Amino acid sequence: MERVKTGITSLDEMLSGGLLKGTVCLVKGAPGSGKTSIGLEFISRGIEEFSENGLIVTFEHFPQQIYRDALSLGFDLKTYEEEKKLKILFTSPSLFIQLIEEADGEFDEIVSKYEIKRCLIDSINHLETLSPDPKILREKIYSFVNAIKRHEITSMVTQEDLSLTGELKAIEYGISYIADTLIQLRFVEIESSLEKAILIVKQRASGHDKKIRKFEITKEGVKIEKEFKGLEGILSGSPTKSILEKFTEIKDKII
Ligand SMILES: Nc1ncnc2c1ncn2[C@@H]1O[C@H](COP(=O)(O)OP(=O)(O)OP(=O)(O)O)[C@@H](O)[C@H]1O
Ligand SMILES: [Mg+2]
Repeated sequence: MERVKTGITSLDEMLSGGLLKGTVCLVKGAPGSGKTSIGLEFISRGIEEFSENGLIVTFEHFPQQIYRDALSLGFDLKTYEEEKKLKILFTSPSLFIQLIEEADGEFDEIVSKYEIKRCLIDSINHLETLSPDPKILREKIYSFVNAIKRHEITSMVTQEDLSLTGELKAIEYGISYIADTLIQLRFVEIESSLEKAILIVKQRASGHDKKIRKFEITKEGVKIEKEFKGLEGILSGSPTKSILEKFTEIKDKII
């Protein structure tokens, strides 16, 4: 299968070369963990480096806020929009689903007019307002996933984890089962500072990095660094030194 590079070099390495074309990647994490930044870089680099036009669907943030966030990472979305390489759809969850469910409707029209190859939905939590019934929600999400697959659009979907650090929870209304790739972001407390961690939980039909790595968001975008060494329990948010690390410390003191 064809790979679609996110353009975040270190993330592409973790993904064994990139996302698979036409698949859905779920980016999960607590508020402020970096979900939108990763999604905006995926869309921007797609336009700049791979000539792949993008669609950003947002339910909460006004386009002005998205321009500002992207600019702080070094990407000028306004220019991409003027050049017709990007479409920002600021809408309500019910209107969005309506656009998708209409055959040959507005969604299909946007995709062909703008030759959309990449899509970011930020965030899927807003779709929860559509219905309290998990079965109906799942159907709505299926319609979205089917539309994406029909057009062979590679997409990133963000989902907010409610606990700041917390355990990996069984995923509500099944989006993580539908997602082909699952990227988990975590806050980790290390020596009184809050660091960010990234892990590829799964990637269907492909190998991927199994390490939990430290990452930072900078004015040049997302920078993924080395794995957290000598620590255990990173996903809990409060890691402790590994037995090997403790042993080495004791040994060093004795010698
Ligand atoms: N240009 C930048 N330079 C440095 N750090 C940044 C920059 N942009 C974002 N950040 C860091 O990333 C954090 C937020 O990132 P982002 O908005 O991508 O998170 P999020 O997971 O989408 O949050 P939310 O759940 O609130 O939407 C900020 O709190 C800040 O620490
Ligand atoms: Mg966000």
